[in-house]
Amino acid sequence: MNRFYNPVKTLQGRGAVKGLSSFIKELKAKKALLLVWNECVCENADLKAAVAESRETEFKTLVFDRSNPDTGDLYNLYTSTKDEGFDLVIALGGGSVMDMAKSLCCLYGNELSSEEEVRSGIKEKRFTAPTAKWIGVPTTAGTGSEVTCWATVWNTVEKGKLSLESHNNYAYGALVDPQFASTMPPSLAVSSALDAAAHATEAYWAKASNLVSRTYALKAISIIMDNIEDLFDKEKNAQAHDCMAQGSLLAGLAFSNTKTTACHSLSYPLTLKYGIPHGVAVSMLIAPVMAVNMAAVEDMRPLFAAYGVASVEALEEKINGILDLAGIPHGISRWGAERGDFPLLSMSCKTKGRIDNNPVDLTEETIVKILNSIF
Ligand SMILES: NC(=O)c1ccc[n+]([C@@H]2O[C@H](COP(=O)([O-])OP(=O)(O)OC[C@H]3O[C@@H](n4cnc5c(N)ncnc54)[C@H](O)[C@@H]3O)[C@@H](O)[C@H]2O)c1
Ligand SMILES: [Zn+2]
Repeated sequence: MNRFYNPVKTLQGRGAVKGLSSFIKELKAKKALLLVWNECVCENADLKAAVAESRETEFKTLVFDRSNPDTGDLYNLYTSTKDEGFDLVIALGGGSVMDMAKSLCCLYGNELSSEEEVRSGIKEKRFTAPTAKWIGVPTTAGTGSEVTCWATVWNTVEKGKLSLESHNNYAYGALVDPQFASTMPPSLAVSSALDAAAHATEAYWAKASNLVSRTYALKAISIIMDNIEDLFDKEKNAQAHDCMAQGSLLAGLAFSNTKTTACHSLSYPLTLKYGIPHGVAVSMLIAPVMAVNMAAVEDMRPLFAAYGVASVEALEEKINGILDLAGIPHGISRWGAERGDFPLLSMSCKTKGRIDNNPVDLTEETIVKILNSIF
């Protein structure tokens, strides 16, 4: 049976952020927190107009510029905003800002007095009843967090990744406006676009895959791969950012109903241990995980066609070529990994809910082989 559900109202395209005022009106928001990756987003004319139009709503802006936020960051944001009475959180940032915004909505209304309580509450799935709504305006393209109901919160104390998840906490709306992407350095544009390609690929072969997700996934991959190199072409750059925004949204919708699989599961320790940016870590894993999964995928042809390649080897070459264009080192040894790390590392590569969603069971031996292949 093919099931699919996603309740987020989406507007995509240049100027989409203008739709913020109607979302705010529909929500009758009294007090909104604008959580931004940088104050420069507040200078956007369309955003300014939408805020000015929302006369019934009081706004407060807060900058959050950390990447891969952890439970300590979340606890600090919670303590500094919990008494303000926000009934709406508007996230204008990458996955990190959106994940903090959606997490805050679930933390408000709880009396928490330590980071440890945040950590244990997420693990015990206690934060499932949001008391505020949130709207996502992604400034990377990206994570698709604007259309998923889970947030990544890193656990730097115990070296792991937590997921704050609630089906009651989808965004009220997503405004996917490529205007905000123009400030991304090429390395961030490429790593976030390849993250989206990984979301789509994993949605295609996940155990929880379905017809709608696979349809979105293939379209997402082809839009991204057909246009990603234009990010480096001054004349085509704006159009390319729009394509990455479209691809990221479609990939987000695809994996919102499937979750991710082994590429993401293996990537988390690489980010935690070696500081490899999320999108870079997952992109290096797409081809080797595909090589293992292929036999269990019903039809690989549409996936290869969407990538514009005929084999896993050609895909690996293509992804490495794109990373080269952006000046991003590929091969985890270039990020400080040592082969001796792998036996221990492979044990932390098995993230519950991700590795068990992979179409093929991966033993630690196979994981070590995969890590060696991207050394
Ligand atoms: N919730 C989900 O569904 C989901 C999915 C995938 C990834 N994630 C999480 O999202 C996080 C990564 O998000 P990301 O890849 O979007 O990066 P990010 O949000 O961490 O941003 C990377 C850096 O770029 C800055 N930045 C953001 N937008 C910018 C812009 N337009 N121009 C210049 N700089 C900008 C940020 O301040 C940050 O320092 C990770 O924690 C990852 O685990 C979540
Ligand atoms: Zn991702």
